[in-house]
Amino acid sequence: MKRTFLYTLIIMIFYSCQSQTQENSTAVGLDGWLEGSSEEKFEEIAHQLGGFSRTMVEVSYRYSELYWAGMDENWDYADHQVEHIIEAMEDGLKRRPVRAESAVDFMENTIPQIESVVLKKDKEEFIIGFRALTSACNACHAKEGESYIMIQEPQDRLSPVRW
Ligand code: HEC
Repeated sequence: MKRTFLYTLIIMIFYSCQSQTQENSTAVGLDGWLEGSSEEKFEEIAHQLGGFSRTMVEVSYRYSELYWAGMDENWDYADHQVEHIIEAMEDGLKRRPVRAESAVDFMENTIPQIESVVLKKDKEEFIIGFRALTSACNACHAKEGESYIMIQEPQDRLSPVRW
């Protein structure tokens, strides 16, 4: 009697594990590109989101756009870029918390400074503020051992946005 109960229990556990793995291993996404267990899927998604380099590619684009927005005195577009730099940095630092310590000064001082400079809608002040932003980019690169990534004010426009 006891033994039958034990066998039944083992069989039940076996089947419940099986159906769970079957459920988790359903391939999803176009043509089922995302496959494996839930954990494997999350790992793959995390990998696809990329690391800090990916964040920097976005920040760098927005930094350039911010510059030209200032040159054009398109202050709404400048504000838009600052907001998205903040968002990209926050998301990037979540994915790579190891970078957070070096980013403290940038997030707590540099960003609020450029935010208030943009609100002033004054091109001369913007040029000075933007210079400080550029120095802060380079200061963090130095802290992170990435001094070979030297940021300079943009020379050419990259995007089709004009004002
Ligand atoms: C946390 C401090 C930090 C701040 C602040 C920072 N960076 Fe970076 N940046 C890094 C690190 C770290 C890398 C290298 C990332 C890697 O390779 O994983 C990098 C890489 C880059 C790259 C090269 C990206 C690539 O792989 O092609 C560019 C461009 C860049 N940063 C631009 C900027 C600009 C522009 C700013 C200022 C608006 C800025 N960064 C602010 C830390 C920072």
